[in-house]
Amino acid sequence: MQFSERIRAMQSSPIRRLLPFSDEAKKAGKKVYHLNIGQPDIKTPDEYFQAVRNFRVDTIEYATSQGSNDLRDAISDYYKSWDIPYERDDMYITNGGSEALWFIVMTICDVGDELLVPEPFYANYNAFAQASLAKLVPIPTKAEEGFHLPPADVIEKLITPRTRAIWISNPGNPTGAVYTAAELEMLAGIARKHDIYLISDEVYREFTYDGQKFTSLGHMKDVLDRLIMVDSVSKRFSACGARIGCLIIKNREFLAQTLKLCQGRLCVSTLEQVGATGLYRTAKSYLEEVNREYKSRRDTLYRALQEMKGVVCEEPKGAFYVMVKMPVDDAEKFIVWMLQNYDLNGETMMGAPGNGFYATPGQGKSEMRLAYVLKNEDLVRATNILKGALEAYPGRLEAIRA
Ligand SMILES: Cc1ncc(COP(=O)(O)O)c(C=O)c1O
Repeated sequence: MQFSERIRAMQSSPIRRLLPFSDEAKKAGKKVYHLNIGQPDIKTPDEYFQAVRNFRVDTIEYATSQGSNDLRDAISDYYKSWDIPYERDDMYITNGGSEALWFIVMTICDVGDELLVPEPFYANYNAFAQASLAKLVPIPTKAEEGFHLPPADVIEKLITPRTRAIWISNPGNPTGAVYTAAELEMLAGIARKHDIYLISDEVYREFTYDGQKFTSLGHMKDVLDRLIMVDSVSKRFSACGARIGCLIIKNREFLAQTLKLCQGRLCVSTLEQVGATGLYRTAKSYLEEVNREYKSRRDTLYRALQEMKGVVCEEPKGAFYVMVKMPVDDAEKFIVWMLQNYDLNGETMMGAPGNGFYATPGQGKSEMRLAYVLKNEDLVRATNILKGALEAYPGRLEAIRA
């Protein structure tokens, strides 16, 4: 029996593939601080639980393939509060932002078609592209420039007859970059000129810090027919397990094509859509409070990293991740070593190896992505462990001793 080329070519998620090592550490009685995955410890708003508790029907029926009207109306209201004119009929509810991304790639790409993505990028973009036999073409960005976009001519040189879209995460996972209005205008101009789509993954929209105002590609009115917006309740409302996301576009033809995929998977959980509708009715003050909490966590983590010799990183401006260059040859080996060999009073920690966030071979090998999703006390413990582990690691580069 055989496996498809497609599945064999796919890489495992760098965020999850080292979990067997953390399971082993836990079996050995150690506590593991998980900074490898964007799973926040923030409480889900009570509105979710109330909505679920109040849901009473005799039969749990299939929902419509497009998603429930109540939820889509709630999302439409939410977008209008951001001054983005999305209506119920512009969107489909999906199983997380993940399914939305998957459906988008399947809708616009044939085998070998290309998607331009600023690199480093959210590792699962590789999975969605590889599963569809599409190709991610990296737009190079630099840590020392805060992972901001290169000028238009650099991006345009990457465009070929096979390019289907420019795909961004804004605010960025794993970079923490928040694109400026000028950068987004530039992307909109390129997309119009070359007649390609824009995919804007804005699942971290509320998480920008230092008073920075968030601009969405949804604010660029002249690209709304080619802009595919991706969203989710996972991070916004700390409801990752609800698996509710959506894709939105003001383009009926696109929606008619994607509907085939939505119908193929029938629908999204009826009950979770009820819970998510409750979430979108949560008071704005919840999001403001959560933003303050993440900013404080960002500060805690960034301060601790700056104090570690040989560790290099830029201050992230949004989302809740930071890409860190470690004074080691191979961050993956270091993470495994730490889980197997290092603990501080019975506690250890875990990051995600950076290479999985790149498409360019060899890039990100000495990098690690850390998620500041744990409360400050835990972040302090986790960074103390990281500091100690780096000092004890036999494979560390000389830089740490300098
Ligand atoms: C940038 C980005 N997009 C999409 C997702 C998918 O999230 P979900 O499927 O939980 O909505 C994630 C999850 O970490 C993410 O970081």
